[in-house]
Amino acid sequence: MSVSQQVFLRDAMRRLNLTRDVFAGRIGVKRRALDTWLLPEGSQEYRAMPEVVNRFVTEIVENEGLLQKYAQSAQTGPLRNRIAAEGKPQLLSVDQFTRESVEEFFRIADQMQPIARRQKVSRVLEGAVLGNLFFEASTRTRVSFGAAFCRLGGSVCDTTGFTFSSMAKGESIYDTSRVMSGYVDAMVIRHPEKGSVAEFARATNIPVVNGGDGPGEHPSQALLDLYTILTEFSRLGKLLDGAHIALVGDLKYGRTVHSLLKLLSLYRGLKFTLISPRGLEMPDYIQDQVSTRGHVIEQTNSLEKGLPGADVIYATRVQKERFASEEIEGYTPDFQVNKAIVDQCCGPDVIVMHPLPRDSREGANDLSVDLNHDPRLAIFRQTDNGIPVRMAIFAVLLGVEGLVQHSLRDVTWSPPTHIGPDDSVFHGID
Ligand code: CP
Repeated sequence: MSVSQQVFLRDAMRRLNLTRDVFAGRIGVKRRALDTWLLPEGSQEYRAMPEVVNRFVTEIVENEGLLQKYAQSAQTGPLRNRIAAEGKPQLLSVDQFTRESVEEFFRIADQMQPIARRQKVSRVLEGAVLGNLFFEASTRTRVSFGAAFCRLGGSVCDTTGFTFSSMAKGESIYDTSRVMSGYVDAMVIRHPEKGSVAEFARATNIPVVNGGDGPGEHPSQALLDLYTILTEFSRLGKLLDGAHIALVGDLKYGRTVHSLLKLLSLYRGLKFTLISPRGLEMPDYIQDQVSTRGHVIEQTNSLEKGLPGADVIYATRVQKERFASEEIEGYTPDFQVNKAIVDQCCGPDVIVMHPLPRDSREGANDLSVDLNHDPRLAIFRQTDNGIPVRMAIFAVLLGVEGLVQHSLRDVTWSPPTHIGPDDSVFHGID
C-alpha cells in the first residue's frame, strides 16, 4: 500500500460517504477494530488491518463507482490546476472548489497530520520562502500559515500592519505584489479591503493565498472549519449531508461565515439556521447562492428558536472594526452561546465551533468560557486543524503533495500527547 492504512481507510469512507459505524457494518467488522486501524501508526492501540479487509474495501469502492470518478479527476491533472483562479495557482475564494476537489484536498490534509501532530518531519519545501503580508490584525492565520510552511521545511518573511510597510508611503498593491514576488515563492495576504487580495494576485504569477480580505472571504478558515466538521462527524458517526448547521452572531461582516456557508453548500440537503442580531444578517447574495443549491435557510434573532436540533453551532464575534453605521457594542446576554443554552437546546453530540478570536471583554457576550471543559467545544481542535489544512494548501499550490508521504522522518523530540491541559481524551485521535 503506497499510502498509510489510516489515509487509505479514511479515503475510502470519504469516497463512499459513510460514517465509521456504517462503514464498519458494511465491511463486516466491529467498530472498535476499525477504530484501531484508523489510529496513527506508532500509537499504542494501532493495529494493522488484515489483507482481506484491504482487498474487500478496494472492491467496495470500485463497486460504488467512486474510485472511477476519482481516477477520472486524477487524469485531468494536478489538483492545483483544477482549483486554479484565473489559470494561476492561487487560493482566493472557496468558489474555486467542488465537493470532489475539496474532499481530495482533505485527503492531502490527512497526510499532513503526522507532521502537524509532531510525530514526523518533512523537508519538501526546503529552500522555499513564504511572504506573509498582514495589513490587518491576526494571530491564528499569520502564525499558522507561517508554522505550516516551516513544518514543510520552508522559511518565512513577514510584514505586519500598514505602518511598517511601504504602503504607508503610498506604494500601490500592484508594485508591492510585484516587488515581493521577486523575493519569495508564495504569499499569504490579509488586507482590510474586499477584493484587495485578488488585486495582489493579478500582479504576480507566484501562488497567492487570501488570508482574509475585509468582509469578503477567508477561504483557508472555511477549509479548516469544514475539515473539522467532517472529522468530528466521523468520530460521532454522523454524515454532513442532511445536517443542521446553526451560524450565530455577526453574519453581515464575518467573512469566515461567508466562506463557510458557501463551502458547506457543496454538500446535500443541509439546513442552515442563521441567528444574528437585527442589522447583522447574512448578505442576500450569499443566501441566494446557497438556496439555489437546494438547501433550507431559516433566519431568526433568537438562540432559543434557532439552536434546537443543531448538529453544529458556529459562533462568531462582533466585527466592530468593519461597522459602517451600526451602533452595536456587543451581543446582549440572551444572545451569548454558553453551557446553559447549549444544554437546553442541543444534545450530547452537538459540536460548538468559533473561528476565534473570541472577544473576552466584559459586555461582549461572545462564546462563553463556561464551555471550556465541555468536550462538545471543538474550538481548539479547530485551531489545531489549521496546521494540516494550511500545509495542504502550500503543498497543492507549490505542487509537492505527491512528495510528502515518502519524505517523512521521525521527530527527534518528544511532544506531549495532549498539548492543552483541558483537551478531550479523543483530541488528536481521529
Ligand atoms: N480566525 C482568524 O482569522 O483568526 P486571526 O484573526 O487571529 O488570524
